[in-house]
Amino acid sequence: MKPLIPTLLLLLLHHIHFSTSQSPSQPPTPSGPTNVTAILEKAGQYTTFIRLMKSTQVADQINTQLNNSQSNGLTLFAPTDNAFSSLPAGTMNSLTDQQKVALIQFHVLPTFMSVAAFQTASNPLRTQAGNANNGQYPLNVTTDGNRAVNVTTGVVNATVSNTVYSDGQLAVYGLDKVLLPLAIFGPASAAPAPAPSGGGKGSKPSSSASGDTSADGSGDASDSGVRDGKGLAMVGVLIWWLVRMI
Ligand SMILES: *[C@@H]1O[C@H](CO)[C@@H](O)[C@H](O)[C@H]1NC(C)=O
Ligand SMILES: *[C@@H]1O[C@H](CO)[C@@H](O)[C@H](O)[C@H]1NC(C)=O
Ligand SMILES: *[C@@H]1O[C@H](CO)[C@@H](O)[C@H](O)[C@H]1NC(C)=O
Ligand SMILES: *[C@@H]1O[C@H](CO)[C@@H](O)[C@H](O)[C@H]1NC(C)=O
Ligand SMILES: *[C@@H]1O[C@H](CO)[C@@H](O)[C@H](O)[C@H]1NC(C)=O
Repeated sequence: MKPLIPTLLLLLLHHIHFSTSQSPSQPPTPSGPTNVTAILEKAGQYTTFIRLMKSTQVADQINTQLNNSQSNGLTLFAPTDNAFSSLPAGTMNSLTDQQKVALIQFHVLPTFMSVAAFQTASNPLRTQAGNANNGQYPLNVTTDGNRAVNVTTGVVNATVSNTVYSDGQLAVYGLDKVLLPLAIFGPASAAPAPAPSGGGKGSKPSSSASGDTSADGSGDASDSGVRDGKGLAMVGVLIWWLVRMI
């Protein structure tokens, strides 16, 4: 038993080093082709969207398109982690792999669009999910002549909370809601959809006033707090065990 102890100590030290060196590391400024995953990681609070972009391979598609000099650029609507966690329970799990791909592609416009460009855009916009006909994947944008931008799918109304990134080729906008397309969540489809209420106005007070940018990064902080707590508990158990061995 005794020779085990140095090994365990090493493991312990390794764990402590691993958990402390994780959080402060900022990815270096990306050189070379634009990397949409790196941009979202740096912004924080988009971990669910990043995971889905990776698992559906839409992230790879986007990076490949951005690296093509012929492209007209891309626009990405990125729902925050809060947007995903406020979906009804089981919403994402009820989707097939194909529907997940369509859902993520629905958040991508095949051209670069500045905030100003939204003011003159004609609805419905075409997304990378394809067919923008009613009942399929239409996406409407409304602006108020200022910098406020709303996005509606016919199932949800979302508000652009901030510009995460914009370089003339790729624009990334933060969104307070997940864009649920009619094709998957509309009244005619099988998946659970929020009932289209008949114009009940103030029934659901939205907290998203256009001036509110205070939410930046807060979701990310609580996430890593949970992870650190788990790590600490593991270290505690190891120490307790070591003490008993000696
Ligand atoms: C993009 O960035 C992510 C996260 O920083 C990294 O894991 C991935 O390897 C990068 N992809 C490319 C093609 O550089
Ligand atoms: C980007 O495009 C160039 C030229 O087309 C190619 O050589 C390079 O491998 C591409 N890089 C990535 C990360 O796709
Ligand atoms: C966007 O939606 C919010 C409510 O969700 C509303 O108060 C605001 O007027 C809308 N703005 C535009 C430009 O449609
Ligand atoms: C989107 O805009 C089109 C064209 O103005 C309109 O016909 C359609 O009803 C709108 N859909 C939604 C959900 O607002
Ligand atoms: C979205 O906004 C429109 C008015 O702009 C409203 O008629 C509709 O009920 C809203 N839908 C949801 C799901 O809140």
